[in-house]
Amino acid sequence: MTSSQQSFAPLRILRLVASPNADASESLKLSQQILFALACQAGRRGIQLSDLDLTTLAPVDAPYAQALANQLGVGANGQEGTLKRSDELIDQLQACDVLLIATPMHNYSVPSPLKAWIDQVVRVGKTFLGTAQGKVGTLADRPVYVAIASGGYISRQPDFLRPYLSAVLATIGLNEVYYFTVEGTAKGVESLTSGRETAYRQVRAFFGKGGHTVNQHTVGRVSSPL
Ligand SMILES: Cc1cc2nc3c(=O)[nH]c(=O)nc-3n(C[C@H](O)[C@H](O)[C@H](O)COP(=O)(O)O)c2cc1C
Repeated sequence: MTSSQQSFAPLRILRLVASPNADASESLKLSQQILFALACQAGRRGIQLSDLDLTTLAPVDAPYAQALANQLGVGANGQEGTLKRSDELIDQLQACDVLLIATPMHNYSVPSPLKAWIDQVVRVGKTFLGTAQGKVGTLADRPVYVAIASGGYISRQPDFLRPYLSAVLATIGLNEVYYFTVEGTAKGVESLTSGRETAYRQVRAFFGKGGHTVNQHTVGRVSSPL
């Protein structure tokens, strides 16, 4: 696609949905706010949304685990099972302009469906290369927006979710990661309402000012959101 075609083509957004709570999911609701802001920002260009429900994603199988253990990430035969699924997930990721992740915090970290997706897109020889200097991501960088919901308050508990997600996305070349969080969803109606208000306000402030005003965990390069 040429750069002039790109400026008229819709903004391609891949949204990963990692909550088991379907439409009641707070992280999904927060991701809707981000989606709305992205649509406003895209203007006449418009957006093209691909939703991926991660809760149906199976964990990795033995041929995939053995292929990766033997550093055969690229050369492995991807005709069936996780290898085939991994090829599809990586193609889908490569094809988006923006990655949007809607995820709850589970036990201080990412929930198992999101971990299953990570295990299938972080693939040696394909999305990263092992070099003498360490792992080098092969994907073109693009913005990643993460909508998190947590029952408690993130600042008052161990947070392995954001540092882990930033590190693992940087491994494959995605260094520009922005976090928004609805906190205190399990602390009663008042807490939920104020948690939503705070998070939604952060989304509006971030996109209204063109970025850089919210909690941003980046590993490596920092640049503007779009
Ligand atoms: C298995 C499990 C583990 C959880 N662990 C945490 C946790 O470590 N910290 C926290 O604040 N909330 C935790 N929660 C609460 C969820 O983060 C909270 O309900 C959140 O709003 C769910 O988001 P969702 O509606 O998008 O699924 C946990 C919930 C479940 C089901």
